[in-house]
Amino acid sequence: MNHSMHHSSLLVISFMMSILYPQGYPVPGQDLTIEAAAYDANVAAPDNGVVLQSLYTSYDPYMRGRMRPAEVKSYAPAFALDKPIESASIAKVVRSNNASYKEGDLVIGHVAVQEYVSLDAPNLVRIRKLENPPRN
Ligand SMILES: *[C@@H]1O[C@H](CO)[C@@H](O)[C@H](O)[C@H]1NC(C)=O
Repeated sequence: MNHSMHHSSLLVISFMMSILYPQGYPVPGQDLTIEAAAYDANVAAPDNGVVLQSLYTSYDPYMRGRMRPAEVKSYAPAFALDKPIESASIAKVVRSNNASYKEGDLVIGHVAVQEYVSLDAPNLVRIRKLENPPRN
């Protein structure tokens, strides 16, 4: 995959739940699909928001419990049908319209499992800068 920002359109891979009650392990292509969506690299980050390039994402056992209808209550919200699943991820800021983030910053947070993620200002609560060691 070419991550160059000079191309006007890139593929964004999204992992989507296609059914919510997989029997046993979710089967790729059946319960979980990988979809490509057009991504315009020339589009600016949202007002006061950022565009991220995902580097790593975490797959954890608790996510199995999120494959359920939304009306079934649990400690973690249900995944939405036909929407990208989300998970704890590490990403790089590739575009920023927010003074708190600059291009190249590494962030950690719960975002959609896809190659590029656009976050508007209200959704910035999902991420924080990755600092090692953490600063208080
Ligand atoms: C910019 O990002 C910071 C950190 O997420 C956030 O607190 C702030 O509200 C954002 N700025 C604007 C103007 O939305």
